[in-house]
This record gives sequence, structure tokens and C-alpha cells, in this order.
Amino acid sequence: MSAYRYVIIGTGRPHRTEDSTGFGMAHAHYPAFQQTGKVHLTAVSDLVESRSRFFLEKHQTDAAYYADYQTMLSKEKPDIVSICTWPHLHADMTVAAAEAGAKVIHCEKPMATTWADCKRMKAAADKTGALLSFGHQRRHIGVFQKTRDFIQQGAVGELVQIEAEVGDMFDWGTHWLDMMFYYNAETPAEWVMAQIDSRTEKSIFGAFMENQGICYFKWRNGVRGILVSGHEAHIGCVHRIIGKNGTIELLSERKLRISTHQNPAWVEIEIPQQKPESFLTADDVVRQLDEPGHRCLVSANYAIQSTEVIFAAYYSSLYRGRIDLPLQHPGNALIEMLQDGSIGPNRKKLEN
Ligand SMILES: NC(=O)c1ccc[n+]([C@@H]2O[C@H](COP(=O)([O-])OP(=O)(O)OC[C@H]3O[C@@H](n4cnc5c(N)ncnc54)[C@H](O)[C@@H]3O)[C@@H](O)[C@H]2O)c1
Repeated sequence: MSAYRYVIIGTGRPHRTEDSTGFGMAHAHYPAFQQTGKVHLTAVSDLVESRSRFFLEKHQTDAAYYADYQTMLSKEKPDIVSICTWPHLHADMTVAAAEAGAKVIHCEKPMATTWADCKRMKAAADKTGALLSFGHQRRHIGVFQKTRDFIQQGAVGELVQIEAEVGDMFDWGTHWLDMMFYYNAETPAEWVMAQIDSRTEKSIFGAFMENQGICYFKWRNGVRGILVSGHEAHIGCVHRIIGKNGTIELLSERKLRISTHQNPAWVEIEIPQQKPESFLTADDVVRQLDEPGHRCLVSANYAIQSTEVIFAAYYSSLYRGRIDLPLQHPGNALIEMLQDGSIGPNRKKLEN
């Protein structure tokens, strides 16, 4: 079998090295896809040529370089595309990759910076049959999988509530909301009620997000979710899963503890990660090409559900009320509020 033709958009530079603008996620994508033994990197693209030249040298590949990713897509006709650019670029790049005939598109998280863009990229992939996935690689970390196994086996009884704390709802929140949906068997959400505080124009990878927030939501199976975000967010653990018969707390990305009504003393369980989650994610993504119908854990079908909660939370803050899903507001209410001055550093201070 010949190798799948693989290209990367946005090579970047490794984290904290000269000229780096972020984490250089392409430097993680490439080894992960390469170790599957099923891909051949034919080309890379970055607006800054020196970043791609460094990439090609570091990884000792003879892949071609393109300044323009659209030209790369039309000339290389890739089977698999990795998108490792900032969030506001994801939608156009995903649509272009789908229209160029890519069979698999693995894009970094968060999906995009507006709800309309998230739907547009998923619709483009669905239309061409491209299999779209996102960098929600924590689904491939053992301790989270163990937690989901416990839940499915009924170790804490019927689920009641899932809680999480996070630095922000968008950049990191996308991971934790995704995990909350993962724990709750990918059940769709029903409504979202949230509030945010944005006293500075905080942005990560060029995308605006809140300084502090709280998002309370309900899934269609009746389970409630609470995500608190920002510098004063605190729930005492990373995630807490409350069932009618006990509680699981995630203490780190390797350790959980469980307490049940029958055995109330906390039992700590450490789950070492045998293979890096980025490798397992690439295995999972490439497997879709070898095994039609393979249920990819990081599929857009899952990401779209948790991402809707992020944009619904921002819109709930603007709307000052509960948002019943599906979310109709196409934009990004946080950006709209920053633009009209109703949040942000220029907002009139309340006397209270
Ligand atoms: N999954 C995770 O855990 C994780 C961790 C860190 C970052 N990320 C995500 O990865 C994405 C990329 O972040 P990063 O830190 O790798 O970014 P980065 O800044 O290191 O690299 C992005 C590169 O994209 C290039 N670029 C910009 N416009 C381009 C264009 N039109 N064509 C080609 N290249 C272009 C830039 O020149 C830059 O070199 C972000 O969405 C971020 O949220 C995910």
C-alpha cells in the first residue's frame, strides 16, 4: 500500500525558541502522524519561509515548501491535511482543504472564532465527505478514559453533575468542555446559562476570551455541567463527576480519586500514559482511512457539540438569560461586546 499524502499548514517554530509565536504544534503533529507508518509528508506551508525551512531541516524531510497554502493544496492533492494555525484561520483553511479533495483534515483546537465559522467548516467537510477532526487529544489520555469507564460501569451511579475549572472557556475551555461531553456519552446539550467578566482585552493565539466566567448548562439526559473559568476559578480539583452513588475527582492528567457511598474513603488511582496522546490521536485519525466507519474519538461530530456551549455561554452573557440550543447567534458575542464597549477595559465602572 502506498503512503497517504500528508501536508501541514502552519509549521511555526517550537515553543520558546527564536522567532516562535506559539507552541509550533506542527512539530508535534508531524512525529505523531509519521509514527503511524502510513503517511508521507509531501509539503508544508507557512507565511514565514524560515519557519518551514527550519521545520524541514529539523525533521529531515525532503517535503516541498509553499508560501501559499491554497497553491499547496491544489498542487499536492493531499489525502491528509494538518492545520496548525491560529483559530481565526481554521475555518477558511478547513474549507479549502475539503474543497481540494482532502480525505482527512486534522485541525488544531479551538474550532474557530465564531459559531458560524464552526458550522461552515463542518458543513464543508460533510459536503465533500472529508473526515474532520480537532486537537482534543485528551480523549486519548488514560486517566480520562478510566474515568469514562468508571462512569459507564456505574461506579458512581447515575450521573448528576460534571464540574471543571479552567483558565478560560475558549482556548483551554474547549478541552474541558470536550471532556465533559466525553464523560457524558456525547449527549447533546439542551440549554446554557452563563456570565463572563472581561475587564481586559485578554487574547490567546489572537482570539479574545474572558478573564473570568461561569457556565452552567444542562444536557438532554438531565445531567448538569458547571465550568468555572479565569484567575479566581476554583473547584478544588481539575474535574469532578458527581453521581447518585459517589464522586470521581480528577487530580491531574495522570491521577484520579474515587469515593462511593459504600466505600466513602477516597481511593487514588494513578494511570501512567503508555503512549503519548498525540501519537494515539494520529493513529485514531489515520485509522479512519483504513477502516471506513471507524469512530474517531476526536471527530468534529463531538467537537461541534462542546464548541456550541462556548459560544452559547458568551451569547448568554450578552443576552442576559438562558440560551436554548441549538444556538442561533452566528457570531462571537464576547467580541461583539468588546467592540461595543459593554465589556472590556473602557466599560464604565459600576458603583457598588
Ligand atoms: N491541542 C493542544 O493541546 C494545543 C496546544 C497548543 C496550541 N494549540 C492550538 O494550535 C493552534 C496553533 O498554535 P501554535 O502554537 O502551533 O501556533 P504558532 O504561532 O506556533 O504557529 C502558527 C504558524 O502559522 C503560520 N501561519 C499564519 N498564517 C498562515 C497562512 N495563511 N498560511 C500558512 N501558515 C500560516 C504562522 O506564520 C506561524 O508560523 C492554535 O489554534 C492553538 O490553540 C493546541
